Amino acid sequence: MQLTRKNILSGMRPTGLLHLGHYVGVLKNWVKLQEEYDCYFMVADWHALLSEYENPEGIRKNGIEMVKDWISVGIDPLKSVMFIQSAVKEHLELAMVFSLLTPLGWLERCTTYKEQLREIKGRMIATHGFLGYPVLQAADIALYNSHAVPVGIDQLPHLELTREIIRKFNSLYKKEVFNEPLDLLTNFPKLVGLDNRKMSKSYDNFIAISDTRETVKKKVRSMYTDPNRISADVPGNVEGNPVFVYHDIFNDNVNEVEDLKDRYRKGKVGDVEVKAKLEAALNKFLDPIREKRTALSDEYILKVLEDGAKRAALTADRTMREVKKCLRHAVC
Ligand code: TRP
Repeated sequence: MQLTRKNILSGMRPTGLLHLGHYVGVLKNWVKLQEEYDCYFMVADWHALLSEYENPEGIRKNGIEMVKDWISVGIDPLKSVMFIQSAVKEHLELAMVFSLLTPLGWLERCTTYKEQLREIKGRMIATHGFLGYPVLQAADIALYNSHAVPVGIDQLPHLELTREIIRKFNSLYKKEVFNEPLDLLTNFPKLVGLDNRKMSKSYDNFIAISDTRETVKKKVRSMYTDPNRISADVPGNVEGNPVFVYHDIFNDNVNEVEDLKDRYRKGKVGDVEVKAKLEAALNKFLDPIREKRTALSDEYILKVLEDGAKRAALTADRTMREVKKCLRHAVC
């Protein structure tokens, strides 16, 4: 007997290269989830356009590169559906329906919205579209009746809004068309940037999943460590030191890490050795990912996405039929 599995939808905006922070915070979780759920992983190109509409050039290419990153870390096109949001027209349709019933106050109060208005400079995002960002996200999730949504902690306000919109829809039309999605947070704390600041594209303080061995070497050498350690014989601080944070996550040789920490605390090891061993560990981790990635052509990715959009559309269409029945007047 074939047990029906629950659905999961998650997405990322194609805004640039994925890095180790994405890997430990989100992708590692996605890879696991595909064993248990029917997963839909979406390139959120409409969401990217909401803030990048003035300069949309990079979005298509970024989308393709992002899916290469996904596949190279283990998202399997045979297990999961990968697709581009704009290739499944029902996302906008359901977003429109949800926008009918979403009070402006819910959106204006949204903390992520207020934060972005403050933080994003040089882009005109005080728009109708951008205010509706979480409405479109709710539509993404509801379209596949996603049982849960694996996201980072920063996305929790959007998930709460999704649940509110879904509750309102179900109660208005007196039908449990959608279930309220749970959040699946990774228990992983945010990975710190190489310079000990928040990891961010604008700080250029990350190691990309697609970085070459040489680049990894250069980046690790320039990593921030304990600033009080002006020479190798000064006892150093291991806790919260980015070099050791990365060792703990990516170096599978636990004994080596413990030995380095011990000597670091005693002032018996130089930063050069600690970093050289981290570089080796990171490259060992990234080597098979790089190997897989270089074998992926753009044509292959486009084929995966085309195939994915077809499969996604089957589910999306089914949901929209239900929704249109609720709206009575719509043609269906
Ligand atoms: N807002 C998400 C982000 O910036 C991307 C996204 C769009 C998403 N639609 C989604 C995430 C649906 C989860 C579910 O990361």
